[in-house]
Amino acid sequence: MSLIGLVVLFILFLGISAAWDYTNSATFCGTQCHTMPPHYESYERSPHARVQCTECHIGRTFIGVAFTRKAVDAQFVWAYLTGNYEYPIHAKGLQPARESCEKCHWPEKFSWDTARTVPEYSADVQNTKVDTTLILKTGGGSARTGLGRGIHWHIENIIEFKYTDKRQQEIPWIAVTNSDGTKTIYTDIEKTLTASDLASLPTRQMDCIDCHNRVSHTFLSPEQALESALQNKTIDPAVPEIMKKGVEVLTPHYKTDAEANQAINNLEQFYKQSYAAFYAQNTTLVQKAIKQLRELYPQIYYRDQELD
Ligand code: HEC
Ligand code: HEC
Ligand code: HEC
Repeated sequence: MSLIGLVVLFILFLGISAAWDYTNSATFCGTQCHTMPPHYESYERSPHARVQCTECHIGRTFIGVAFTRKAVDAQFVWAYLTGNYEYPIHAKGLQPARESCEKCHWPEKFSWDTARTVPEYSADVQNTKVDTTLILKTGGGSARTGLGRGIHWHIENIIEFKYTDKRQQEIPWIAVTNSDGTKTIYTDIEKTLTASDLASLPTRQMDCIDCHNRVSHTFLSPEQALESALQNKTIDPAVPEIMKKGVEVLTPHYKTDAEANQAINNLEQFYKQSYAAFYAQNTTLVQKAIKQLRELYPQIYYRDQELD
């Protein structure tokens, strides 16, 4: 082969590798498609903000397999071009957790109870903060080391279930594989399904995603959005009644952005009238809170995606 041929091949190889890398990046997945803003924004503020979308959505696997999986996803480009989407969109083809989550999280290692403090703010004048501290029995580990308990018992053991609806909410049948290999079967006695009905239903082995189904994509309720803003002080808890008033203005489904901004801006009038002395001394604090609320609203309600 001539030297020029080699050089052309090499350049081609570099080009294809660059295209492959680019289509694996979170910016490509998150910004090149108009259905993605909510999922990209929630991802950006999640603990997985440095994990590429493809790690969970295609799985860490042999490049040939990853390539065919990506090719199958090209159907969404068609759906995008023809506007053929059902909102809110829902992921159907996520890879089994063994190929995604478990490449980083080693199930045998979750062996602790976790202490967690959940701060909440009351709907009173002082936005009184109430901390609730809980012990979560996360558990995990393996039975071999005397563990395999807590909520992660469900991944230490093989659990299969059958479901009758698209969202896998109706579960008439569960099978647990015991440590001696035998199976214990649980059936819903209120459902009148025959053995052949059951046999025809799809079976799924429970994995991480059956519980952590909002991992990387949590959408906040108005209460949660305010609590987090008060907690990290982007909204100052010194502003009286801001928890209550904030939730009030963030809750409705406004028809346009202008309408949303107007409703939120009206809060300034409320503070001028009801807390005149506080407002006079802390005008910027109130205005900063209102500005923050305006920024929070589009993260709570995505009008064009029918998602909240
Ligand atoms: C840590 C793993 C993880 C990462 C990283 C991740 N996702 Fe997801 N994603 C999930 C899970 C889990 C679901 C929900 C699957 C289900 O409900 O069965 C999901 C669902 C979705 C959905 C469908 C909406 C829904 O609510 O079901 C979209 C769209 C999506 N992800 C886009 C992205 C984009 C874009 C990125 C990167 C910017 C990304 N994801 C990164 C785990 C992840
Ligand atoms: C490429 C590696 C990687 C993959 C794949 C991955 N994670 Fe993670 N995950 C991490 C890291 C790193 C953290 C810790 C982030 C931190 O502590 O700030 C984390 C944190 C978490 C947390 C704790 C979140 C919290 O609020 O502290 C959960 C739950 C979790 N991951 C579940 C999952 C699930 C379920 C999947 C599969 C859908 C998954 N992860 C896939 C790397 C990964
Ligand atoms: C039966 C439901 C269930 C399944 C299945 C499940 N988890 Fe969890 N997991 C939980 C709950 C509940 C918590 C505790 C809540 C929290 O930390 O926010 C948790 C906590 C975690 C944490 C945080 C640990 C900590 O100490 O804070 C990680 C990481 C995690 N899970 C990863 C996984 C991975 C990876 C899988 C699959 C191999 C998995 N989980 C399967 C329910 C489940």
